[in-house]
Amino acid sequence: MAQEVWTQNELTLKERTYGVKSRLRRFRWEYPAGKPLRRWFPRSFFTDPLALVDICSPWEVAWVTRYMATEFTGSGAVVELGPFLGDITVGILKGLRQNSTVHSATIDSYDLFIFEDIEDRTAELPLSGRFHNGESFLPLYKGRLGQDRGLVTAHQGDVSEESWSPDRPIEFLFNDVAKTWDIWNHLKSTFYRSLQVGGTVVEQDWAHACTPWLHLWHHRYREHFLVLDQVPHSGSVPFRLLTPLPQSAFEPDHFSDYSEEQVSDAFDWAAALVDSIRQRNVRGAYVHLYTLHGDLDRASRLCIEELVGVSSDNELVQVALPELAIRLNNRAAQEEADQQGPSNK
Ligand SMILES: C[S@@+](CC[C@H](N)C(=O)[O-])C[C@H]1O[C@@H](n2cnc3c(N)ncnc32)[C@H](O)[C@@H]1O
Repeated sequence: MAQEVWTQNELTLKERTYGVKSRLRRFRWEYPAGKPLRRWFPRSFFTDPLALVDICSPWEVAWVTRYMATEFTGSGAVVELGPFLGDITVGILKGLRQNSTVHSATIDSYDLFIFEDIEDRTAELPLSGRFHNGESFLPLYKGRLGQDRGLVTAHQGDVSEESWSPDRPIEFLFNDVAKTWDIWNHLKSTFYRSLQVGGTVVEQDWAHACTPWLHLWHHRYREHFLVLDQVPHSGSVPFRLLTPLPQSAFEPDHFSDYSEEQVSDAFDWAAALVDSIRQRNVRGAYVHLYTLHGDLDRASRLCIEELVGVSSDNELVQVALPELAIRLNNRAAQEEADQQGPSNK
């Protein structure tokens, strides 16, 4: 269903300022680690009601803004995969405006642009009831981009169906869409193939449990990348491509392409790239990898090892463990049904 462009004016002043105090508290709390990025921090974080729905952290927005303003050369394209409501796109545009040497950059962004769980996300907010699952949020995304929206080409649809011309090198790639191994394989053969030497890819899902294929691939090709400074208070890790990747890097890979030892080494390496708080999320990806591929016994053993001394505020506990528990339950139920035999079904 098409949706009219929504504006903040539809909200009362009280609704617009909802949560401002808690946003300020969060800012103060996060500021010590974020201090080097303060100049680039999005002011809209305090005032925009949609900031409460954004999934990326404002520090990721600040990092991207600084990168576009100070490091982006304009020698290649800018691609954003999975922008959702566009906080990162806005940060890219803001950085480009402040970059005195680049005058003609544009952005290609790729998303389904269809709300999936917006009703849950807004349930407790003044925005409750305004957006509906199944609706297109493309008008909302475009509306949020402001005066520079003409620089952005938004490609609506399944990114797995999209292509990218090999003649167009990419200088900046922000990836927040590799949610399945199949999507990831497609991204590698299209967008990653065109990442130019000197270009940067930001893996937004690094310090998360759900995308273990990222860690395996980056570990395999780690000699080709420089890991850039950590983005504070976020899941993102940026990598700069230093030397051309071999053809094999763009071919589909699978769970069976990695030995147990390679997997273990990859997650030790991957966890070490983030701060101690987020390391548990990466360890969650280690467990989740085996859960997703049906090795529940190994996943259980790893999970128990990883859980020792861990608080509950991480994706090992909140994502990897519940998924493993569901699959263990299903397996137990299946085994019981098998034991009872077909006559009792
Ligand atoms: C975690 S959200 C991205 C959050 C965003 N980076 C931000 O700054 O708030 C993932 C996005 O990927 C999109 N997405 C998921 N699967 C997709 C697919 N197969 N093709 C295109 N977009 C997809 C979703 O619609 C969603 O907007």
